[in-house]
Amino acid sequence: MLRKGKYILTILLSGTVFYACSPGGNNPGYEYMPEMVHSVAYDAHSENPVYPSGYTNQLPAEGAIAVGKYTYPLPNTPEGYERAATEIHNPFDFTADEISKDGKKLFLRYCAICHGEKGDGQGHLVEIDKFPPPPSYFSDDLMSKPEGQRYHTVMYGKGMMGSHASQLDHRERWLVLSYVKSLQDAHSGKSGNDSETAEVVTKN
Ligand code: HEC
Repeated sequence: MLRKGKYILTILLSGTVFYACSPGGNNPGYEYMPEMVHSVAYDAHSENPVYPSGYTNQLPAEGAIAVGKYTYPLPNTPEGYERAATEIHNPFDFTADEISKDGKKLFLRYCAICHGEKGDGQGHLVEIDKFPPPPSYFSDDLMSKPEGQRYHTVMYGKGMMGSHASQLDHRERWLVLSYVKSLQDAHSGKSGNDSETAEVVTKN
């Protein structure tokens, strides 16, 4: 008798399960704890009658700055480039070691392909005729280029050079530019306290 009862119970239960799991037509089947499947809150990508935009996803409030994020204050215009000469300065105090190791690594990864490992404008792309030679870092113009304008160029690009803003963060941009400066200092024989950097450069 007990056995028979179990048997009937099993049939009944599996019948219920099959029924619950077999939606068809307009019948969605039974859902247990539907809130777990259909979120009560609005889904991130769903439409939303509450917000004026009609979407759940919202843009950050105007002027909001993510924690730890640097916002470059100048626009990508000729005037912005002019202003960069006096308004943008390197806020970091890198050690000679950081410049000659980390700065160099970034330079070889992102810049040397055009500017050449030595900075003379004879990078690999130039050698294989894929890119016209960029000006040498040791030209009079670039030797005296204000650091703010160099940064502006790395931010937005200039002429044939594209923006490197997405590959490098604020600190890395200044670090790689400090390495460029150390190449120039070594070239002009100015060692200063960068003698270590100059030594690394001559090994190239
Ligand atoms: C695709 C080739 C290419 C790459 C990659 C490249 N550059 Fe340039 N770069 C150029 C060219 C071309 C110019 C000349 C732009 C002009 O004056 O029209 C230039 C100019 C510059 C200048 C002079 C800026 C100025 O305001 O006149 C600096 C500094 C510089 N590059 C640094 C870098 C650094 C640092 C990197 C790597 C993060 C880099 N470049 C990557 C092609 C490149």
